[in-house]
Formats: sequence, structure tokens, C-alpha cells
Amino acid sequence: MSTREEIQKLKKEKNAVILAHYYVNDEVQEIADYIGDSFYLSKVATKIDAAQIIFAGVSFMGESAKILNPTKRVFMPDAGADCAMAHMVDMKKITQMREQYEDLAVVCYINSTAEIKTFSDVCVTSANAVKIVKNLPNKNIFFIPDGNLGEYVKEQIPEKNVILNNGYCPIHAAMTTEQVKKAKETYPDAEFLVHPECKKEILAMADYIGSTSGIINYATNSEKTEFIIGTENGVFYELKKKNPGKKFYPLSEKGICQDMKTITLTKILNVLKNEENEVFVSDEVRQKAMRPLERMLALAE
Ligand code: 13P
Ligand code: SF4
Repeated sequence: MSTREEIQKLKKEKNAVILAHYYVNDEVQEIADYIGDSFYLSKVATKIDAAQIIFAGVSFMGESAKILNPTKRVFMPDAGADCAMAHMVDMKKITQMREQYEDLAVVCYINSTAEIKTFSDVCVTSANAVKIVKNLPNKNIFFIPDGNLGEYVKEQIPEKNVILNNGYCPIHAAMTTEQVKKAKETYPDAEFLVHPECKKEILAMADYIGSTSGIINYATNSEKTEFIIGTENGVFYELKKKNPGKKFYPLSEKGICQDMKTITLTKILNVLKNEENEVFVSDEVRQKAMRPLERMLALAE
């Protein structure tokens, strides 16, 4: 029996479903039951009634799924797959900001640890950050951990005082304006679609800025046929699948999140077989981290 067949068999036997982010390897996206951006996957996680969730993504995604659906068992194919940005907040700074601004809202990008979420008022993803911050009653917003997404939100909502943190995604932050210029010269008819984790000077050169789902939907609905893509290159799988007649060029060949790529079919089969790498979140952390996540789900509607 092939690895794929064994996975399908064990999934049925154990009543398990596989959730996968657009950044994981093609063969993993191919066998997943649900593929999407962070927002979609967190919504799906609340509705799953299978007994087990195998989360093909990085640790904050598995943690969020467990927090939102605590009666389900959640497993990570690779326990070490982590998002570097998820840790880039100094908790002391949050306390300091709360002391400084009475009406402060701590807005936490979902790319953060469960512990960081416990200090936050509301979570956001790249798909809903602008909408949620705009509708908050608070004028002063401390946006954590991503400084680049924070900067993008700040620009979209000038009426708020958005205070920035200095976290960043090493993959998106490494993309340069020189790469954009070169790609635009090479593909003059292509539109440039970019993720808001990139630096603001790159966003300024884009035709469209959005989450991974936003980028995929934009390219799918566009009459244009060529696109330069400024995000992690895992999105090419879905872009090409949905748009076989269109051409997609990576802004950077190095746009690869190694943590996402550690997830393989063999590791998925292994957790299905051996029930290793289960996600556990203490009750105390779960209760506190659930509030900002649930608030996000309510406010994003
Ligand atoms: P999305 O919100 O588009 O899923 O992005 C998640 C992510 O990790 C980007 O680096
Ligand atoms: Fe984190 Fe960046 Fe990887 Fe996304 S691409 S999971 S933000 S390190």
C-alpha cells in the first residue's frame, strides 16, 4: 500500500481530518481535507466534528485549533514546525503600553504563541486585520507581533493611533524592492500581488495586497494572465490548480518557509499511526487565549 493509501485508510479508521495551510508541500495540500489561509483554517477548526485533527502547518495553527475546539485531539506532523515571528513580542512591553494608554486594545496577529494571545484583546489574521481594527472602539492600538502587517493596518486606518512592534516574518521581510524592479522588468505585463507581511516599500509597488487566500482569489478573478507573487511559494500549488492557463512568477526563489516544508506525507502517516505530537494547552491558557480568538471570529463576520 502506498503512503497516500495508508493515510486515507487510517484517516477513516481513526475519524481524522487533515487541515493544511497553503505554504505546505504540494503533496500534502493534495491529500488535505481542508486547505486555506490562517483565517479559513481557524474557522474550519471550530466546525470539525471528526475525532482527530492533523494540522499540516506550524505550531500556532495547531494551538489555535486546539483552543477553539478543545474536545478534539489535535496532532502536528512535525512538533518542531514553528513560526519565528510567533515569539517576537516582549510581554513587558504589553504591560507598559497598557499603563501608558487607558483605552488600549492589544491586537494580536494569529501568528503568535498561545501565551502571547492570553495578553491580547483580539486576534486578527492578514485577511481581516484592517476590518477588525477599523471597527474597534479603541483609538490606541498596540499591534503585535508583526511590524509590517501593523504598518499596513496603520496606513489603512489613519484615524487610529496604531503602535507598532518590531516582529517580522524572516521570509517576507527578506523580499526587496530590487527584486520587484527586476521582476517587473522581466515580466512587464504581469500584475504584482503581495502579502502584507512584506515591508511597506514593497507594498507600495503592488497591484494587490492581501492574505494568501486573497492573492489566490484575486489572480483567479483577474482578466490578466501573468502575475508576480510576493509571498511564500507554497501558494503556487493552488494558484496553478485554479488557473491552469495563467502564468505565475515568484518574486523570490528564496520565498520558502522551511518550517512549513518540514511537513511530509511520511510524518502525517506517522502521527496517524502512532498518535505522536499531540497538542496540549493548559486550561488556564486555553480559557484566556480563546477570548481573543473567538472575538476575531465574531468581528470578522
Ligand atoms: P495567511 O494569513 O495568508 O494565511 O498568512 C499566514 C502566514 O503565515 C503568512 O506568513
Ligand atoms: Fe511564520 Fe513567516 Fe513561516 Fe508564515 S512564512 S509561518 S509568518 S515564518
